[in-house]
Amino acid sequence: MTLPRSPLLRFALLIAGLGLTMALQAATVVAATPPMGWNSWNHFAEKIDDATVRAQADAMVASGMRDAGYVYINIDDTWEGERDAKGEIHANAKFPDMKALADYVHSKGLKLGIYSSPGPKTCAGFEGSYGHEAQDAKTYAAWGIDYLKYDLCSLGEQLDRATPLQARQIMREAYTKMHRALLATGRPIVFSLCQYGYDSVWHWGASVGGNLWRTTGDITDTYDRMAEIGFGQAGLAKYAGPGHWNDPDMLEIGNGGMKPEEYRTHMALWALLSAPLLAGNDLTKMSAETVALLTNRDLVAIDQDAAGHQGDRIAAEGTLEVWAKDMADGSKIVALFNRSDIYNEIRVDFRQLHFTKPVHAVDVWTHNDLGRLALDTRMLIQGHDVILLRVTR
Ligand code: GLA
Repeated sequence: MTLPRSPLLRFALLIAGLGLTMALQAATVVAATPPMGWNSWNHFAEKIDDATVRAQADAMVASGMRDAGYVYINIDDTWEGERDAKGEIHANAKFPDMKALADYVHSKGLKLGIYSSPGPKTCAGFEGSYGHEAQDAKTYAAWGIDYLKYDLCSLGEQLDRATPLQARQIMREAYTKMHRALLATGRPIVFSLCQYGYDSVWHWGASVGGNLWRTTGDITDTYDRMAEIGFGQAGLAKYAGPGHWNDPDMLEIGNGGMKPEEYRTHMALWALLSAPLLAGNDLTKMSAETVALLTNRDLVAIDQDAAGHQGDRIAAEGTLEVWAKDMADGSKIVALFNRSDIYNEIRVDFRQLHFTKPVHAVDVWTHNDLGRLALDTRMLIQGHDVILLRVTR
């Protein structure tokens, strides 16, 4: 790069460079790997209160989830109360003392997350942060909040009336404003953008301070919706990395709407996608299978791999898809998915992953050493299931 001649311009360039480096460092510190934790919305929606959050924190520890890496306990929408005469936000009666709740969650070795909107109202119609961004950020920091999900909602009404160019500017300014407000508190707070992927947020989410950004509308506890969202992430890998992640929404594992192989697919796909792992079930009522799947050390390690290379689709033939993720140790995680509900034979061509000789494969679920697999391999797979391999030369 050629530097400008003017000393003033050079100085300005240096300052801009430093600013960018600091912003990237701040982002990296708070979300070097995809955030892991729990969020209240998928299971509890508006039926969330102080006692329930404490119980989830207790269960996060007792179930072994904290030790597996799940640390954020995130309160979603409906905690918000009124603003006082000074404009300060207070929690409603469901949360009598947010600071005491944060202290409790922290005493368990966990972190507390909260939710707001850049619009005047949240999605559930509660008080948003519009016009009170700096004040709210300070309040969150004073309470001891470690994570903010910032959900577009009523700001979207302004966007409806705007041209696409104006909408782009409104959204970016709104997110930048809160990002700056959070930074100004001096407290490391993960900044989670929620605007459902509008305006290809993956292109600009990191530049407005997002540590993660939702790429789609809401998930539901069905195979079809989970698959639509999960497999729909194809092509987004290059936008993710340490400090800034694509977010295909929270997990539904354990909520009861999917079969075991479907939840396996959900977990495998999210791990492969380096997606945030935010459990969305009731942690106080988990079956052994749910705990085992959420805390599966191999799956968590795939998701949390230090290199932060999001996986992507390698091949698709009808409802059969092959995805792969490059791991920091040089191995590749290869996932074979059957999106139809009937038994099938799936083919994987390891040449598409740049192998030139038969590969060595280990089954990630069972740890079975499968020995050498031919470059062109076929395997049988049941409907809606996933075969997960760790592949090396
Ligand atoms: C939106 C978000 C959800 C949840 C609700 C809360 O729909 O996408 O994840 O936060 O709002 O009202």
